[in-house]
Amino acid sequence: MSKLTIFKHPLINHKLTIARDENTNMKDFRALINEIGGLMAYEITRDLPEKEIKVTTPICETVGTTLATDVVIVPILRAGIGMVDGIHNLIPTAKIGHVGLYRDEKTLEAHEYYAKFPKEMPEASVLLVDPMIATGGSVIMAIDALKKRGAKDIRLVGLVAAPEGIKKIQELHPDIDIYLAALDEKLNDVGYIVPGLGDCGDRLFGTK
Ligand code: PRP
Ligand code: URA
Repeated sequence: MSKLTIFKHPLINHKLTIARDENTNMKDFRALINEIGGLMAYEITRDLPEKEIKVTTPICETVGTTLATDVVIVPILRAGIGMVDGIHNLIPTAKIGHVGLYRDEKTLEAHEYYAKFPKEMPEASVLLVDPMIATGGSVIMAIDALKKRGAKDIRLVGLVAAPEGIKKIQELHPDIDIYLAALDEKLNDVGYIVPGLGDCGDRLFGTK
């Protein structure tokens, strides 16, 4: 069974609470989602392998470390884009793949419309990013797409999730570790997370 980590960090909780507020404007909302992404990535990458390298300081030669793995960030379009800068600021060498999915508003089924990944997928540590995990359908389809390209080390970075979606992901992809800022109560009858934060893509990009 995959590991489920829900961050209980005062800074994440504080920022998420402001993001949930319907009165938070688009600019602040976007900044908060990015900041939470960065805070989460700091912890999620704690076990990445390192290798020693020589470095010459102004004083002498010494030994430091560098990452011994490629990192690929894969946002699920659109809302996943909202967390990318926050993570990329911490790991500027990371490459970025994209998977475009939209949910049919009636059936809630995910549909893929775009996919482009760097060649490093099979060996890389892949951070799959989607702030909202509702039925889980989008994430499941995205993980299928990543595995098809050979990805093995996939870490799912979500902001807010419904228990229904997490259960389904764990059933179908038990090898994927899941990291969240919050596990909410449930889905409502139109497939939105309760209490959630509304439509994340619309709030990030000012659509609707
Ligand atoms: C939202 C959200 C997730 C998905 C979650 O995207 O960003 O990707 O729904 O729902 P699920 O777990 O039930 O699949 P949406 O399809 O609204 O597209 P958008 O990001 O382009 O607005
Ligand atoms: N997508 C969102 O943006 N919000 C939800 O609550 C569910 C899916």
